[in-house]
Amino acid sequence: MNRKYRKTIIAGNWKMNKTLSETKAFADEIKPQLGKHKWCEVVLCVPFVNIPAAVRMFKDTRVAIGAENVHFENSGAFTGEVTAEMLKEVGVKYVIIGHSERREYYGETDFTVNKKIKAALAAGLHPIVCVGESLEQRELGVTAELINYQVKCALAGLDATQMRKVVIAYEPLWAIGTGKTATAEQANEVCEIIRSIIRREFGARVARAVTIQYGGSMNAKNAAELLAQPDVDGGLIGGAALKVPDFLQIIAAANQE
Ligand code: PGA
Repeated sequence: MNRKYRKTIIAGNWKMNKTLSETKAFADEIKPQLGKHKWCEVVLCVPFVNIPAAVRMFKDTRVAIGAENVHFENSGAFTGEVTAEMLKEVGVKYVIIGHSERREYYGETDFTVNKKIKAALAAGLHPIVCVGESLEQRELGVTAELINYQVKCALAGLDATQMRKVVIAYEPLWAIGTGKTATAEQANEVCEIIRSIIRREFGARVARAVTIQYGGSMNAKNAAELLAQPDVDGGLIGGAALKVPDFLQIIAAANQE
């Protein structure tokens, strides 16, 4: 974290979990315990159908609601899809783009990621852009090249003002949902690479201001160590964001004095 230059963001990615009543139970449990979390922004990215209710449930808190995906077109014959403007109008602030599960199961590519980022920004949303290597790629020693390619494709055509609204999440595929977390050094090393790409493309001031999260089995136990790294500005959290005590501990780790 570097609170002087950029926002720390703790974002839950609920994936395809929690019904409306389970969402309400989570909100009822966490709200009285949230405290001020003055050092970080807290976000919950929830399934589309529960977004309007979640926005209402967290209206009197500082928890922002996010979506887990968005389409890149503004309207049209795209059965089952949702536009950025639709999300904006129901109170969404952040949207996850290019999560590895969407790349793997739903044909998301670096080029659709780029188009989705632009659509999200045009609607006034903050994209949380996911990048990360597989275990095979890490073992082959091509992590830096892959990250460079993914980040450059994702951010192509953005200007500095737009870039300041983008959050990047480094999520090594081998760490997602596996209980196998990157070491704090591994996480920081890649977050630092991402910042250096942004520096090259957008300049030092923008690079210094961009929030770069780590994601992949971040939990109540390892959050403090990961967040203590200079280039890890928060977390994108799956499993541990489904349980109130665990999520609260991660928020607390981001708020250490
Ligand atoms: P995990 O998921 O925390 O359950 O590993 C992270 C993510 O996929 O964003």
